[in-house]
Amino acid sequence: MANLASDFIGIKSPNPFWLASAPPTDKEYNVRRAYEAGWGGVVWKTLGSEGPPVVNVNGPRYGAIWGADRRLLGLNNIELITDRPLEINLREIKSVKRDYRDRALVISLMVPCDEESWKDILHRIEDTEADGVELNFGCPHGMAERGMGSAVGQVPEYIEMVTRWVKQHSRMPCIVKLTPNISDIRKPAEAAKRGGADAVSLINTINSITSVNLDSFSPEPMIDGKGTHGGYCGPAVKPIALNMVAEIARSMETRGLPISGIGGVTTWRDAAEFMMLGAGNVQVCTAAMTYGFKIVQEMISGLSDYMDQKGFTSTADLVGRAVPNVTDWQYLNLNYVTKARIDQDLCISCGRCFAACEDTSHQAIAMSPERVFTVKDDECVACNLCVNVCPVENCITMTELPKGAVDERTGRVVSDYANWTQHPNNPSVQAAE
Ligand SMILES: Cc1cc2nc3c(=O)[nH]c(=O)nc-3n(C[C@H](O)[C@H](O)[C@H](O)COP(=O)(O)O)c2cc1C
Ligand code: SF4
Ligand code: SF4
Repeated sequence: MANLASDFIGIKSPNPFWLASAPPTDKEYNVRRAYEAGWGGVVWKTLGSEGPPVVNVNGPRYGAIWGADRRLLGLNNIELITDRPLEINLREIKSVKRDYRDRALVISLMVPCDEESWKDILHRIEDTEADGVELNFGCPHGMAERGMGSAVGQVPEYIEMVTRWVKQHSRMPCIVKLTPNISDIRKPAEAAKRGGADAVSLINTINSITSVNLDSFSPEPMIDGKGTHGGYCGPAVKPIALNMVAEIARSMETRGLPISGIGGVTTWRDAAEFMMLGAGNVQVCTAAMTYGFKIVQEMISGLSDYMDQKGFTSTADLVGRAVPNVTDWQYLNLNYVTKARIDQDLCISCGRCFAACEDTSHQAIAMSPERVFTVKDDECVACNLCVNVCPVENCITMTELPKGAVDERTGRVVSDYANWTQHPNNPSVQAAE
């Protein structure tokens, strides 16, 4: 069995699966059971400054998006940071860490944006023997209006300044958690690096309204007839998170900065994808909230089987493996030609591919009177839409034309790699000639 042991910025855990800072990690009772279920680490639910505890709403705090089978695809929340007293959290963290020395325990923090507040909280947590801190610059609701969370995360200068304070006043490894509610994720990551962060984690939740009640005319979740924007997470956000992780992993300025990947991780495959794009480990929230702590067991066995199959001996063999294959559009091979192929044995004649291609793509699928569907190679631009709308897996596949073959649509012979920077239609190529 492959060795899943993980060393993330010096924080060791038996596997790379950590629970993200959220309700699954908000108390000793939960964290102990999470460790027993097999989680390699946890980031404790965000702690704030000492003082009157945070107040949450007393009505619904979640909204959701579901697939046709009622499977949860996206979760929206308006919950704040921990609403339990700081003293109790600190006592519980210390007690859990004492009993689970082999597991990672990172404390998430969010306090007002002044040096004294950060110095004070760092001093308060020192005694817990936690393995590190994660700075929550990501929460998009409630705390942002008070000048914390994503209000800090959206200003790179603040990120750099706070990270620097944290590194100055603490010897703990410091992970900066980034908000996706920003146009270029590389900027806050660069700021975190400049401030001395040991790693970044991303993504926190995305600003969102999941639905509107058409009878009460209010956004949901609805609190006494009113709603507000919340933080979106779960499987629906994974593509956004993957792209942001990849952007940081391949940027010259942030290359090599360790990344903890978060956002929609539900299966071992999701985790492997994040790691391939540069994440040293992953954090999970919605999947644990949907299916319970035991889902980590499928993640452990699935990743381990995959690594055995590929001959990977440690998780380090996975990390960043796909990064060199993430490129800009202009470098894609324009001489890579494929055509859609329909497997007639699998086809159930539903006609979805025909409707999609006929109405919104390139009129490249023919339907016979007997409802047999075939691809017209002289029209097919290989867009892949039919593959994505077909309800039968692998019924339509894209097949590569070999070099030397003629593309019936363009009449051109398939030749060697050439991209847009070399294409005769590119104005800069024309200018150079
Ligand atoms: C109910 C809820 C509460 C959360 N609270 C926190 C928090 O206190 N601190 C934090 O850094 N992130 C918080 N998050 C964000 C998660 O840690 C995570 O970044 C996000 O949910 C994306 O991961 P996922 O798609 O696996 O859920 C919360 C998420 C949810 C759903
Ligand atoms: S790949 Fe695109 S163009 Fe080709 S058949 Fe499918 S939908 Fe039509
Ligand atoms: S969408 Fe798939 S199953 Fe339906 S007709 Fe087209 S190829 Fe057949």
